[in-house]
Amino acid sequence: MTEQSSSHATNKSVHNSNTTSARRDFLYYATAGAGTVAAGAAIWPLVNQMNPSADVMAMSAIDVDLDGIEVGTRITLSWQGKPVFIDRRTQEQIALARADDAADMIDPAPDAERAERPEWLIVIGICTHLGCVPLGQKSGEQRGNWGGWFCACHGSQYDTAGRIRRGPAPRNLDLPPYTFVTDTHLRIG
Ligand code: FES
Repeated sequence: MTEQSSSHATNKSVHNSNTTSARRDFLYYATAGAGTVAAGAAIWPLVNQMNPSADVMAMSAIDVDLDGIEVGTRITLSWQGKPVFIDRRTQEQIALARADDAADMIDPAPDAERAERPEWLIVIGICTHLGCVPLGQKSGEQRGNWGGWFCACHGSQYDTAGRIRRGPAPRNLDLPPYTFVTDTHLRIG
């Protein structure tokens, strides 16, 4: 981590870096607390010593700048110690999810209830079976038969709405509380 980014982290605000590689595979780690994650940042290593105590984490929220996240891109950030997947879905992915709203599912839920704004799917990236982090955030990773996420631990498959479609997981990927403060300003928590 650079001296500059360390300073930003201390202020609990993450700003753009000049790294543009792997734009489809952005991986963000926001420190818990009222942090801000900017879309232009590339890879932000988790800095354990900056984690606050559990009681602070329980109340914490993070602000995410969505500007610059391209359609078809998935990013991962950390909120209250959990990975959160943000997927800026393509029209095709949205259509796939909605076409399956009436399908026979393990945990039925219409897509409209899964994504407040259809283009933005925001889920907790923890498999609801036994807690593994599913694959599918990085380009080239397995996403399963429904194009969402694939849990390599025991084979659960999630669709483009994060709904469980096959495997031992008992329910859909959980949704974190979130609010769109503006079109490009998301608050999680
Ligand atoms: Fe994901 Fe078991 S933990 S399928």
